[in-house]
Formats: sequence, C-alpha cells, structure tokens
Amino acid sequence: MLKIAVLISGGGSNLKALIDAAADPDFPAEIACVGSDTDAPGLDHARSAGIPTFVVRPRDSATREEWGAVLAAAIQEHHVGTGPDRGLVVSAGLMRILPPGFVRTFSPHLINTHPALLPEYPGAHAVRDALAAGAARTGVTVHVIDEGVDTGPVLRQAAVDVLPGETEADLHERIKQLERPLLVETVRDIALGRLALPGAA
Ligand code: GAR
Repeated sequence: MLKIAVLISGGGSNLKALIDAAADPDFPAEIACVGSDTDAPGLDHARSAGIPTFVVRPRDSATREEWGAVLAAAIQEHHVGTGPDRGLVVSAGLMRILPPGFVRTFSPHLINTHPALLPEYPGAHAVRDALAAGAARTGVTVHVIDEGVDTGPVLRQAAVDVLPGETEADLHERIKQLERPLLVETVRDIALGRLALPGAA
C-alpha cells in the first residue's frame, strides 16, 4: 500500500477526490497525512475522514529552505518519504513553490497537479493566463516536481476547449472536473507500478 502525503492551500476538491477514492479498500494508496501552508478550508475534508493534518506556515521560518525542511519533517513523521518504500507526496493545490532542499528530499516521489497543458501557462495564475492569451484550448497536467516552476516531467494531461465568454472561475471548475479523476488515476497507476516516475530506482 503506497503511503501518500497531500499538500493543499485552498478548498481541497482534488484532495476530496483522493480521499473518496482511497475509501475503496481496493484502492492501492493510503492518505497518511494532509499538510498546508495556511489554514486551508480543504483541511476539513481530511479531518472529517480522520486523516492527520498539519499546517506549516512560511512566516514561522526564517527562510524558504527552512520552511521546506520543517514541512519535510512533518511529512516524514507520517512515514512518507522514509524507508525503502518511498511513498508519494502529492501537491494538489499547494500555492507555494517547494524549495530545492524539499524537492531533493522526496524526488522523484513528488508530483503536482497544474491547471494548464504544461509547458503552457506555468505559475500561480494558469487559468487566467490562458484566458488572457486567448487560448482556444487548455487543460490539466500531472507532473513530477523538479526544482523549477512547473517544469518537471509530465505524467498525464487532459485537454478542455475554452468556451466563448467563459469566466476564469467557470473555466477553472471545468478543468477541475477533468483534474480530479486524472489525479486519482495517476496516483493509482503509480501505486500499481503501471506508471513509472522518471528517475525512480
Ligand atoms: C487545482 O486546479 C490545482 O491544479 C491548482 O489549484 C487548484 C486547487 O483546487 N494548482 C495550481 O494552480 C498550482 N499552480 P482544489 O483546492 O479545489 O483542489
């Protein structure tokens, strides 16, 4: 059983999709903990499911690297990223760039979901940026996190057509409708060994 740690900053609808999937005894991964950089409303999904949660605020650390080290230690307390079974860290709406030391601790057992077809529209405002560019199509990417911003190897993508006059909120919600099952399937396939993480031993 793959142990996963999920990191969020917001409403946590992707986290909820993972929690619902993992409630099935046949799902090959278990959510060991959920962490955030803030009092994210989505932490309630974990609390309701009896999953341990923690908040590690950047402002309580002197540097980004120190914040990353505290966050890594909080995850490892739940036996993710330690021992021969390396587990998996899933950034599902964490709105912070993970510092290099954190990435090196878990790499390549560290994935992110991003609301665009990378390498298009990296960064914190992917849906807004796609609309501003007049894109006819955008989507979602699940990728391995490296030390860049949304630059790591792509694992899975799904595309969506942009509708005329669509708002950022409406487009983001339609992207998330594809994103939630894509993330669940990606985690399942990693857990089953059907999808290899580039560089994993
Ligand atoms: C998701 O669409 C995720 O791809 C995005 O935040 C949303 C979180 O939604 N992440 C980023 O934009 C990271 N750059 P959720 O809290 O409902 O799961």
